[in-house]
Amino acid sequence: MLGKLNHVAIAVRDMEAALKVYRDTLGGDVSEKVAQPDHGVSTVFVNLPNTKIELLEPLGDNSPINKFLEKNSAGGIHHICYEVEDILAARDQLVAQGARILGDGEPKIGAHGKPVLFLHPKDFLGTLTELEQA
Ligand code: CO
Repeated sequence: MLGKLNHVAIAVRDMEAALKVYRDTLGGDVSEKVAQPDHGVSTVFVNLPNTKIELLEPLGDNSPINKFLEKNSAGGIHHICYEVEDILAARDQLVAQGARILGDGEPKIGAHGKPVLFLHPKDFLGTLTELEQA
């Protein structure tokens, strides 16, 4: 089921401060900041040779990463994203094995314009896990 590691997402309070680290200190190839109002975040991607880092900054009052940032005031790794060949087949197989899908269980269009799902962290070693259609 698992394909490539698509990205590792890091939640940040302040994108400018995060860019100082990833662009200026680490010399990363960073994208423009894009507001994702449907997801309550703004994103910047750091393009690496083999994968991406997704920097997530809260957008709006009800951002889904607010609670995470309350617990992790310095920011931190929020989720990892794996590519799958067929997201609906992957979902059905995981649900049949007892895994929980967050939200209504239907894929939503993610930051790359492809269908994504989030799996419950308690079923995946304490790690919020995103699946993205390859
Ligand atoms: Co993601």
